[in-house]
Amino acid sequence: MRMVDIIEKKRDKHPLTKDEIHYVISKYVKEEIPDYQMSSLLMAIYFNGMTDDEATHLTEAILKSGDRIDLSAIDGIKVDKHSTGGVGDKTTLVLGPLVASCGAKFAKLSGRGLGHTGGTLDKLESIPGYNISLDNEAFVKQVNDLNIAVAGQTSKLAPADKMLYALRDVTGTVPSIPLIASSIMSKKLASGADVIVLDVKIGEGAFMKTLEDARKLSQLMVKIGKNFDRKVIAFITDMSEPLGFAIGNKLEVIEAVRTLQGNGPNDLQTLCVEIGSYLVYHASITESLKEAKKLIETKIQSLEASDLFKKLIEAQGATMPDLNDYIHVNGIIAVKSNREGYVHKLDALQIGLAAMRLGAGRETKDDLIDTDVGIVLNKKVGDSVNKDEVLAYVYNNKPDITEEIRMVLDAYTIDEKPVHKKPLIIEIIE
Ligand code: URA
Repeated sequence: MRMVDIIEKKRDKHPLTKDEIHYVISKYVKEEIPDYQMSSLLMAIYFNGMTDDEATHLTEAILKSGDRIDLSAIDGIKVDKHSTGGVGDKTTLVLGPLVASCGAKFAKLSGRGLGHTGGTLDKLESIPGYNISLDNEAFVKQVNDLNIAVAGQTSKLAPADKMLYALRDVTGTVPSIPLIASSIMSKKLASGADVIVLDVKIGEGAFMKTLEDARKLSQLMVKIGKNFDRKVIAFITDMSEPLGFAIGNKLEVIEAVRTLQGNGPNDLQTLCVEIGSYLVYHASITESLKEAKKLIETKIQSLEASDLFKKLIEAQGATMPDLNDYIHVNGIIAVKSNREGYVHKLDALQIGLAAMRLGAGRETKDDLIDTDVGIVLNKKVGDSVNKDEVLAYVYNNKPDITEEIRMVLDAYTIDEKPVHKKPLIIEIIE
């Protein structure tokens, strides 16, 4: 087989065979195919797409490039969740303890944040002492004992994805539906869960900008899941504004705990309860989605879910911080509205970038983050605002945050007429 023939085949819009796709990935991982040829193939895929079968073969080839987590020693149905990335997205911190308190086995490997989106690991590591490095045995034991473990993804999981993603990032080939689907699904399948909910975000702050593309990506990932005998459910959700009020690592931990206690923002609580219901139902804990939702609500009211969060962080080496004395910053600046009206738009991307500039996120993967800084929104889409009323609070440690304040202010579009909020959950595909 020759790489140049495979490139030409894809260039001419012919589907690649399983053998050709496995050949490309195995040779690329061994560095026997150079980046320039791989880039060319990625661009041909970007323009000409892939059939569902090709995307499935690509997923399998990436999956086979590394280790697979063996969760067979965990009794019961293992559940997992993945978000395509958003601003203020602390869903995992809430969802995990919620479903685990209902009896589902939540075995989650998470990643770090990059750019305007935050990562679960950074949020958990903002709790002093939290250990993200569990070996397979400790991970399995903790899920058996506690129903939940949230640890870091090792570099041995789908290494081909890491190499391909780095190349896609610099060759303009990230936004390709089959490439995104195979990248996400290879890592999810390698992580070993039986039931997986994918939260596919759309909007300014997300990879998918339109419902049509989000639908195509979701349908493809559900199909790939089916081909590997896993139950995959895709939630298409709105990310035109941030999720919840808090953006920034420790601020998000506080909001997650409050949500577990039933005092969180409506959008975050709704999303976690809805996704949680699907996980609990498909883990065969209840006979219907309705019962699953009821069970989750009882676990919030009884505080069993928030107790489990505490047990999770203790099991992974940390102690529950005093949330009333958790954030230490040099200043909290109130950003005020310069007009009266209703919030029509709150640009998630701008807010995410402002939080990143404050130090809450990374511009490049080697940047250090400041876990205390961030933004707490006071107004979201649909809210009425008076002149000089606070739109958001900026928690900062930098001497000059003029630019960040301007970004927060510019993220808001305020107009005279009242506005209806868009639904958060747009579609569920399974
Ligand atoms: N997330 C991933 O893991 N991979 C992609 O290609 C895009 C988003």
